[in-house]
Amino acid sequence: SLPVPSVQELAKKEQLKAVPSRYVRPDQDPIIFDSKTAPQIPVIDLERLVAGDLENTNNFDSACREWGFFQLTNHGVSTELLDKMIKATQEFFKMPLEEKKKFPQEAGDLEGYGQAFVVSEEQKLDWADIFYVCTLPLRYRKAHLFKKLPIDYRLALEAYSAELKSIAMKLLNSMAKCLKMDPQEMIEQFEDSYQTVRTNYYPPCPEPDKVIGLAAHSDAVGLTILLQISEMAGLQVRKDGSWVTIKPHPYAFVVNIGDILEIITNGSYRSIEHRAICNLVQERISIATFLSPLMHREFGPAPSLLVNGARPQFLRTTTENYYKGVYARKLGGKSYLDTVRL
Ligand code: SIN
Ligand code: FE2
Repeated sequence: SLPVPSVQELAKKEQLKAVPSRYVRPDQDPIIFDSKTAPQIPVIDLERLVAGDLENTNNFDSACREWGFFQLTNHGVSTELLDKMIKATQEFFKMPLEEKKKFPQEAGDLEGYGQAFVVSEEQKLDWADIFYVCTLPLRYRKAHLFKKLPIDYRLALEAYSAELKSIAMKLLNSMAKCLKMDPQEMIEQFEDSYQTVRTNYYPPCPEPDKVIGLAAHSDAVGLTILLQISEMAGLQVRKDGSWVTIKPHPYAFVVNIGDILEIITNGSYRSIEHRAICNLVQERISIATFLSPLMHREFGPAPSLLVNGARPQFLRTTTENYYKGVYARKLGGKSYLDTVRL
């Protein structure tokens, strides 16, 4: 990716009254807040879900079918660990630019500190800086990133990565049960799998209505688990043609289905478009943890779902090929999922 300025530094400039034209986004839907009474994504209690509680199971299944999103409470990750993760993340972005530049994105690689998917001088830019690392499998961790992390951040990130892997496996197992899919097929794809953590830093913006924090997209991955560090809302989810603004619950996660899971569930669970918006007054940080099958693994609609005349809705592919297709099409803003739909 091409070097572009840090948005955090740009936003600090005292005279900044108007955003540079590269950040003005007529290509995105205007920022409109939905009414206070608009429906919200369902809230799922993980402990009760795992215990087989009927109400949580039904809400979970319909959330995955209809919204592709839900909030997750009672998930077992201690507030102590979440506070450590939050504090270490905030401290990371507070470091001087020179320190953050010690985590550079290398050519052709999204890991490190910078911006995502910058491929041309003309390309419009998101109002955000990003810190992106691969956390699992352990053998994929990049020493040049992990060794340099401040020790509190590194320890929090390592513990957080393990906890989120375990939550993801519980959710995937519950999904398999709801769908009457062979849970072993889920385990095979996700047990030894690829986990990355992407931290999005959205500085306050002098013209929040003109920019976008993270342009509308669906996640290419299997499953996404998001922690929002701020009471400020910013995440919007597409529902029946409108944008629904998610109200952050403190210490809850927002979970969403990615394209790969839509394919594996043969379209029963949906990968839904979402975006992040900015605000005038306050920075917002979100930490997205993604889980996907390993790069060389082939996946497609789960064989146990293709019974009683059910036909596959998608082609089989590998994570690597799927990601390549997504990156190649990213700038078109269109969903790559449609290209593997049968
Ligand atoms: C994301 O789509 O990965 C992040 C959205 C957010 O910042 O809430
Ligand atoms: Fe996303």
